[in-house]
Amino acid sequence: MKKIFLILAVSLFTVTVFAQEVRTATRDYSDEQRDETDPVILKRLEDWKDLKFGFMAHWGIYSQWATVESWGLCSEPWIDRKDAPYDEYKRQYQALNTTFNPKRFNPERWAKAAAQAGMKYMVFTTKHHDGFCMYGTEETTYSTVNSSCPFFKNKNSDITKALTDAFRQHNMWIGYYFSKPDWHCPDYWAPEWATPDRNVNYTIADKPDRWRRYCDFTYNQIRELTHNYGDIDILWLDGGWVRPEWSVNDETRPWLGCSGQIQDINMPRIAKMARENNPDLLIVDRSVGGKYENYRTPEKQIPDTLLPYPWETCMTMGDSWSFVHNDNYKSTNQLIHMLCDVVAKGGNLLLNVGPTADGEIPAECLKRLEEIGIWMKDNGYAIYGTRPLKPYSKGRVRYTQSKDGLHRYGIYLLDDGEVPPSRVEIDGMVYRIKKKTKHAVVVELM
Ligand code: GLC
Repeated sequence: MKKIFLILAVSLFTVTVFAQEVRTATRDYSDEQRDETDPVILKRLEDWKDLKFGFMAHWGIYSQWATVESWGLCSEPWIDRKDAPYDEYKRQYQALNTTFNPKRFNPERWAKAAAQAGMKYMVFTTKHHDGFCMYGTEETTYSTVNSSCPFFKNKNSDITKALTDAFRQHNMWIGYYFSKPDWHCPDYWAPEWATPDRNVNYTIADKPDRWRRYCDFTYNQIRELTHNYGDIDILWLDGGWVRPEWSVNDETRPWLGCSGQIQDINMPRIAKMARENNPDLLIVDRSVGGKYENYRTPEKQIPDTLLPYPWETCMTMGDSWSFVHNDNYKSTNQLIHMLCDVVAKGGNLLLNVGPTADGEIPAECLKRLEEIGIWMKDNGYAIYGTRPLKPYSKGRVRYTQSKDGLHRYGIYLLDDGEVPPSRVEIDGMVYRIKKKTKHAVVVELM
């Protein structure tokens, strides 16, 4: 009897100590904070750097209102809802799934336009912050494949699948934009409380199970995206306020809003699962840094000079990510110059279009894509697979070189409508122009 008591006491003591350890243990973040060192991923990143030019589309239920993607749902003071009362706006916005029916959606047409422009990869909004899924999820009914959405009967109702198949036909890499925060999921924005800002609206410390459920929901959705569509190349994660504690600094703390809560989604767990099928999947946990931000993504801006790490500028073709009427589209000349500038500084350009509610890429965008494609056909050799060359960018010239350093190029930018000259002077040398193309001409440097 004494012996049994002793065993019981010892095991109770062990259980208590163990439980305390579990309670006080914080995750070991040290590995997560370091840049990726896996040679498989690093090799893939080098291959990705060769692509230079990618296609992005922001498309969702918001396109029906020709308004900014998702943000109208968020009750932050900077958001302009054109005087509409918040609650009513939110109710109507969230019901946009019941009218989304893009009858003119033709995935092959999108893929062809991108491929002809010389784009080598795509990143598509599978789910934006509003939580509406443009793919075949079983985690929620809020999607294009559910009978609550009139498009569910269409053969392309799994829009992500349709686009993936079409872009693969053109040998393009497949990337998925996915928002970590989900403003439709009751485990992120709990319906019992108001939603004062973009962040989770309940106290995670008081409701750890609820947060765990949200982490599982996100994990499961990313599992669908990385397991149900073959070999995916890029997982592009947006919503940088959902981030682990170690990554919160003076710049990012204000993103956590009035409650200031850390929203750690457990990226190591997600990444491990996401790479089960795709061991060389690039993960872009935007703005977080460390192991799961394989490359960085300056938004709507081009850095002044070379950046010493892998990066991609994501850039809108107009002003807006999603379709709006009378968007202020950049000229073909501007877009080609941006591409040259980005490449000269060692980056990739991910150029975004906003398709209409009907499923069409606006004619203005198609025209620009076509014109860029014409230029790329003649001059792509100074873009694809190149690496930066000092001084990268000087006056009208952008410099690149082949990876083996045997060919060095000067890309001489021309003004809009400027007649291509027969000769250009670069660094004191005069070069004859072999191919007189609009927008910019390329010479091989001596
Ligand atoms: C910004 C926008 C977001 C968009 C993203 C694309 O963060 O707020 O809506 O999806 O840019 O880079």
